Amino acid sequence: MTKKFNFDVTATDGRARTGVITTSRGDIRTPAFMPVGTAATVKAMLPESVRATGADILLGNTYHLMLRPTAERIARLGGLHRFMNWERPILTDSGGFQVMSLAGLRKLTEEGVTFKSHIDGSRHALTPERSVEIQALLGSDIVMAFDECTPYPADEATARRSMELSMRWARRSRDAFGDRPGHALFGIQQGSIYRDQRAESAEKLREIGFDGYAVGGLAVGEGQEMMFSVLDYAPEMLPADKPRYLMGVGKPDDIVGAVERGIDMMDCVLPSRSGRTGQAFTRFGVVNIRNARHQDDPRPLDEQCTCPACRNYSRAYLHHVNRAQEIIASMLLTWHNLHYFQELMQGLRDAIAEGRLAGFVADFHALRAGGDI
Ligand code: GUN
Ligand code: ZN
Repeated sequence: MTKKFNFDVTATDGRARTGVITTSRGDIRTPAFMPVGTAATVKAMLPESVRATGADILLGNTYHLMLRPTAERIARLGGLHRFMNWERPILTDSGGFQVMSLAGLRKLTEEGVTFKSHIDGSRHALTPERSVEIQALLGSDIVMAFDECTPYPADEATARRSMELSMRWARRSRDAFGDRPGHALFGIQQGSIYRDQRAESAEKLREIGFDGYAVGGLAVGEGQEMMFSVLDYAPEMLPADKPRYLMGVGKPDDIVGAVERGIDMMDCVLPSRSGRTGQAFTRFGVVNIRNARHQDDPRPLDEQCTCPACRNYSRAYLHHVNRAQEIIASMLLTWHNLHYFQELMQGLRDAIAEGRLAGFVADFHALRAGGDI
């Protein structure tokens, strides 16, 4: 029996919500942070370790997987879950965003986008129909509609053309997806920083009807203040009884601000990517483990953190293996960062459930204002 995709809000605090998304591959506690597993791996982590940090769901990428090892090959091998040894839910992004940021020689038309692979220069095409087909071949639990992430800044006319194209592609994505019990299709709101366009986009998506709704086109260079000003109205334009997903966000303070504004799901490469460059997120702010001041420090990254990097290793050791470019440096810092992000999400969920989000957010900011770490 495949479980129906469902979302229950169990408590609210202001605009913030906590709840559970049920899927046939397990529950997703919201607000949820999704680690990024672009190339069928969360870099430097075993899947069981990712789960141990508290992740309920991973994000995968249509763009990368269609190029290598190809969606058809993954399908023949039993789907993405079995291929990468992650049995829990997977959400896949639809590819347009990654084409625009990574691929060469891109051409965008009404039909879709053609591009050259960043890996070997070969030519490929993505359309709403092909993107949805690839995501089905992968066996994705949450399929994203094919869209254009409107670049920032965009003047009103440019943003409108882009948003309207994404809404026509959303319709085609919906039609291509059909009815797949146990699998969900999310629409993506665009409209840049223009309130009327965000409203129009939300209206179009509601009319088409999706299992969840993403806020797209943010965290693309507009800055936190501008992003929050859009999040002050954009999420509540989307259906309250469906999950709201803010794509590509973010830093810990972005996540806290987004959750305060009614966002239920987020994803970002930041904890995993920063782990590989020596940046560690802590309650007190960011620690750059490469800094020479850590070389004789016997203390852990964070005395209160229960991750393996903090339980078993000193800052001096983490500094050493980072400087020596040892693989374990990436493993330990990635684990710590993912643990920190998941603990932040648990803190937010508990605070919302207990009606004390404002106090939680005040403490979060006060600790970070403390200065040197
Ligand atoms: N990742 C970050 N922003 C976006 C967006 O607007 N659309 C898609 N598809 N992916 C994203
Ligand atoms: Zn730790």
